[in-house]
Amino acid sequence: MSPAFTIRLASQRDALQIAEMSRTLIEVGLGWSWTPKRILRAIQDPQVNVAVACSTPGIVGFLIASYQAQYVHIPLFAVNAALRRKGIGSALVRWMEATALSAGIGTVRLEARLANHEARAFYRALGYREIMLEPGMYKGVEAGVRFAKDLWAEAHAGACKRP
Ligand SMILES: CC(C)(COP(=O)(O)OP(=O)(O)OC[C@H]1O[C@@H](n2cnc3c(N)ncnc32)[C@H](O)[C@@H]1OP(=O)(O)O)[C@@H](O)C(=O)NCCC(=O)NCCS
Repeated sequence: MSPAFTIRLASQRDALQIAEMSRTLIEVGLGWSWTPKRILRAIQDPQVNVAVACSTPGIVGFLIASYQAQYVHIPLFAVNAALRRKGIGSALVRWMEATALSAGIGTVRLEARLANHEARAFYRALGYREIMLEPGMYKGVEAGVRFAKDLWAEAHAGACKRP
């Protein structure tokens, strides 16, 4: 059964838990750069959304979206390992995409480690295209893949047809 969860913007008191999730679920082997202080700055930044998926025990997933003039960049995103493949990641991405479209932004950009086959499969399933392979993207030692998605193309494809 799918877990019940809601998505909301993070508050300052969520910073520690989000930073811990980044350390244990995303930045493994790269050093801890998204410290509680840095997450707190992101939460307070008016150009950044830190969204969290919450269930009964607390935060089960989060996504950080940084709004630029022409695109949204997703620097950090994860779901608790025990609750994957239950739609939480998709719900966070859909939340971010709807927010971006409401703000008039039609492109999303993000990266994943080349060896992160789970995340790459996830992004492809949600309509993201692998646009560039970059050796040394992560601290000069690990290759990464750049992804992009045209949100307007998808929105127009689903637009109401004239009678
Ligand atoms: C990537 C991640 C956020 C996906 O979260 P999730 O809640 O498991 O994703 P969903 O349940 O919404 O998956 C949606 C679809 O994506 C695809 N998908 C997700 N995980 C997959 C996997 N491990 N292998 C293949 N396809 C996968 C599937 O098509 C899935 O639909 P299905 O379960 O009906 O087949 C999660 O795997 C994660 O936290 N990974 C570690 C951190 C990370 O890599 N973050 C992203 C890069 S920074």
